Amino acid sequence: MKKTVLVSGGAGFIGSHVTVELLQAGYEVVVADNFSNCDLTCFEDVKKITGRADIPLEKIDFCDEAAAKGIFKKYHFDAVIHFAAFKAVGESVAEPLKYYKNNLVSFLNVLEAAKEVGGCNVLFSSSATVYGEPEKVPVTEDTPRQPAMSPYGNTKTMCEDILQDTVKASGGTIKGILLRYFNPIGAHPSALIGELPRGIPNNLVPFITQTAIGKRECLSIFGNDYPTPDGTCLRDYIDIVDLARAHVFAVTRMMEGKMKKDCEIFNVGTGRPVSVMELVNAFQKVNNVKLNYKIAARRPGDVTAIWADPTLANKELGWKAERSVEDTLKSAWAWELHLAGK
Ligand code: UD1
Repeated sequence: MKKTVLVSGGAGFIGSHVTVELLQAGYEVVVADNFSNCDLTCFEDVKKITGRADIPLEKIDFCDEAAAKGIFKKYHFDAVIHFAAFKAVGESVAEPLKYYKNNLVSFLNVLEAAKEVGGCNVLFSSSATVYGEPEKVPVTEDTPRQPAMSPYGNTKTMCEDILQDTVKASGGTIKGILLRYFNPIGAHPSALIGELPRGIPNNLVPFITQTAIGKRECLSIFGNDYPTPDGTCLRDYIDIVDLARAHVFAVTRMMEGKMKKDCEIFNVGTGRPVSVMELVNAFQKVNNVKLNYKIAARRPGDVTAIWADPTLANKELGWKAERSVEDTLKSAWAWELHLAGK
């Protein structure tokens, strides 16, 4: 029998790409989403890409405890991947309670529900944000975490701890993997699914593509006086499909009982630092478009430089990021053109 994975937040940017990769790897997927930050189009396009018109969809909010428990009773899940969360850093500073309530309660409900049915493999979508401004780069999974810069970041750190403690107390019935994502960018090669920020994008690549297409007037590069080779910040930009594939390797590892500890942590990055300026130049070059940009003040809360040491994921998961930054930037542009109907 095929193994079934619950993807909470499965209609969002990362969740939709993960759903595609899981289905293509032969897993059954139940997508659950409350559609608070996406619409049905993306889910419909996942069906088109995979040729699967019958993907089960549950419109639920995991903050609703009864609904969360209900879904675990309705299906049997071999693993759950939890994405359902708010993710705008700035908004989380302005509305911390909204973030703590949503991101913590939804995850607590998933874990309670998993416990109630006798346990489950749980994969949590964490973030490199837990490393703060690291003293040494690249960061390994043993690099100490730092106090988060925002309530959003704090919810990632807290959910990591919640999963670790729950696994420890579960007597082996709940196993966990924490994937710490670096900067996911790009879109599916089909250009049917991609990142769709509501309102003004906070993240760099959607801002670049929206400026290039004319939705935004000018990209601000936040600071060129950082102690880096070209003065702009360094990040580890990882292709969304590469990132999605890491989830397939991780759930397979859990289901096949290959974990070395009951709760494991992996960095999901490329190991390749790229500066903001390099990314902007690469975007213009590979897509042959001119970008209107200016140098602006630093953005409060930004770290100077962070990139992953992905050795552990490479070795233990047998996964490696494969797509070049250039190809990923082409996919991001193809997605923006698709949205514009071009
Ligand atoms: C941000 C969040 C991080 C979150 C991640 C999700 C902050 C401080 N961090 O990471 O917690 O997990 O998004 O994807 O918000 N930049 C510009 N101009 C722009 C936008 C960004 O120059 O209009 C620069 C930033 O200064 C940064 C780089 O581009 O150096 C990447 O920024 P962004 O895409 O927002 O990601 P992070 O800040 O790394």
